[in-house]
Amino acid sequence: MKITLASDHAGYDLRMKVKEHLEKKGIEVIDGGATTGSEPYSYVLAGQKIANDILEGKADRGIAICGTGIGISIVVNKFKGIRCGLCSNEYTARMCRQHNDAQVMAMGARVTGQAVALSMVDAFLDEPFAGDRHAVRVNDIKAQEEEFFK
Ligand code: RB5
Repeated sequence: MKITLASDHAGYDLRMKVKEHLEKKGIEVIDGGATTGSEPYSYVLAGQKIANDILEGKADRGIAICGTGIGISIVVNKFKGIRCGLCSNEYTARMCRQHNDAQVMAMGARVTGQAVALSMVDAFLDEPFAGDRHAVRVNDIKAQEEEFFK
């Protein structure tokens, strides 16, 4: 599995921890976004990078980090075909896979501790989509996209 990982400046330090964690597990990472935590870098650019990497088939999943996770999750969800869950703990990270088949998880570096964040990463990568009634709802999301993202 290949992961595209990007953040703005507010997410930089946590992103480095996530990157190290993934690489220790032998997972290939496409790292993008801010190159330091001190120079402002737009979460819009970081979110666009993640969504494009997924849509272009460069990565299987994405992890998006900004200060709250809110801005970057909004950006990623503007792309047709992408489902991004803004998660705050291991349970929501698991559920965004199991129920929503999210390809991208967003989190907030200013509101999520490092240990929790890494447990969220593991849950997000390990959990399969449950399909069944959840597939019906995900298909309804796709139908809505066809209708409104013309
Ligand atoms: C950056 O200061 C902050 O606005 C950004 O990281 C994010 O929290 C926006 O949603």
